[in-house]
Amino acid sequence: MTVNGEVISLLGTKVDPEQDVVTVDGKPIQMSTPRTLMLNKPAGYITTRSDPHARDTVMSLVPEIPGLHPIGRLDKDTTGLLLLTNDGTLTNALTHPRHRVNKTYHAWVQEIPTERAVRKLMTGVEIEGKKTAPAQVEVLRVDKHRTLLAITIHEGRKRQVRLMCAAVGHPVISLTRVSLGPLVLGHLKEGKWRDLSPAEVQSLFRAAGVKEREDK
Ligand code: URA
Repeated sequence: MTVNGEVISLLGTKVDPEQDVVTVDGKPIQMSTPRTLMLNKPAGYITTRSDPHARDTVMSLVPEIPGLHPIGRLDKDTTGLLLLTNDGTLTNALTHPRHRVNKTYHAWVQEIPTERAVRKLMTGVEIEGKKTAPAQVEVLRVDKHRTLLAITIHEGRKRQVRLMCAAVGHPVISLTRVSLGPLVLGHLKEGKWRDLSPAEVQSLFRAAGVKEREDK
């Protein structure tokens, strides 16, 4: 067993369940009550636990819960579904690239992409020297000078959707994440959050291919 990285051999060592990181056989164990929230992130907030420059962070929109941290990240100007948890097992399950959890974004892009451009988004475009994995792309709405696309990806590269759309000549005007694995944003208002139910948390573990919580 380790506490905060130090091997413990003394019986009766006291730990703070809200603060200390305890591992048994190399695996972190959850000591505080696990809590996972869904936030509808507004634009203008950065996804970080703390910001040395004290800009508006998503943490200012949710209650203070020890150990709470965002799972993955959304760009400052991206809105929509962001999960926050104090459960490191869930964070690992959802962020491990091997687990391939789908994320769907609604992207308003400039002008009207040709079929060829849409196909290119689907089959993969080169961003920063590496081709993106296949994506699902649906045209939801076409206006005079802009188009609404639903783009589903399972990778989590930095600014991936913005870079993909720019790479095919249709820069993003606005971007919202509307689903993550089995969860949908639904009617949660911008800036509001809600607790996930135990069934929803289990559905996330299942979507990540983890049958049960790994620390059980
Ligand atoms: N892709 C992006 O470009 N931005 C995000 O915030 C999320 C996915």
